[in-house]
Amino acid sequence: MRKFTKELFDYTGYDFSDYSQSSLNRRIQRIMILWKVENLEGLLQMLKNKPELISNFVHLLTVPYTSMFRDPTFFLSLRTYVIPYLRTFPLIRIWSAGCSTGEEAYSIAILLKEAGLLERALIYATDLNPFSLEIAKKGVYPLDYIKEYCGNYHKAGGLNGLSSYFTANYGHAVFDEELKGKIIFSTHNLVSDASFNSFQLILCRNVLIYFERVLQNKVIKLFHESLENSGFMGLGSKETLLFSDHLEYYKKIDDNKIWQKIS
Ligand SMILES: C[S@@+](CC[C@H](N)C(=O)[O-])C[C@H]1O[C@@H](n2cnc3c(N)ncnc32)[C@H](O)[C@@H]1O
Repeated sequence: MRKFTKELFDYTGYDFSDYSQSSLNRRIQRIMILWKVENLEGLLQMLKNKPELISNFVHLLTVPYTSMFRDPTFFLSLRTYVIPYLRTFPLIRIWSAGCSTGEEAYSIAILLKEAGLLERALIYATDLNPFSLEIAKKGVYPLDYIKEYCGNYHKAGGLNGLSSYFTANYGHAVFDEELKGKIIFSTHNLVSDASFNSFQLILCRNVLIYFERVLQNKVIKLFHESLENSGFMGLGSKETLLFSDHLEYYKKIDDNKIWQKIS
């Protein structure tokens, strides 16, 4: 596997060498079954023969699962602790890193709208998977998902009905241009790309869990350098800063995985 990830990096520029080995193994096994290749050499050869398969390979290798207002109490905490801080800025910059198909970014946009802050905010939503970003940019999700999203929205302290932010069209929910216009979606690889702005809030939820400790540390350093003093970092329910080299610069706000950078 080590040899495979190294050769994959040399050939494609995607570096998966410090991803969690157990999850990587499982997903590569699945791809090999799906693509009917017998071993890692065969898989690499296939990618070399058909470079058009590379983005599909990256898509299958990463885990795109997400939802709107995922872990609703996290969003309740954002309302309580982070919104009052954001209110003090004339221009609010937020980074949703590893945004997958965009549901987290739209959830944040709704939160800001309900706090009266959307107009002066910009949300940068990034992922390494171009397939997911195409869906994110459209902001169109199957109505089948919306029942779950509505439940999450209410548990997250939503002030209206979620339906006031989308139009139903042929079995899909089309989210409003007003929200979409405040989100910039683009590719960004947390392993290899640099910081591109400074932010008052960085969300990177359910992404670090797929990385080995050494890569988690590297990515947290990137966030540390991109976060303004007193800014907030939000992680996923199974993620923590406790083992990071930067722990001394952060205080934990509550049990909902929100950390504040100490000035
Ligand atoms: C499980 S989803 C989490 C989505 C969302 N943050 C949430 O919590 O619902 C993990 C996302 O991380 C992205 N990802 C994995 N490795 C990445 C990397 N090196 N750079 C940027 N995004 C990455 C995947 O493409 C996937 O969309």
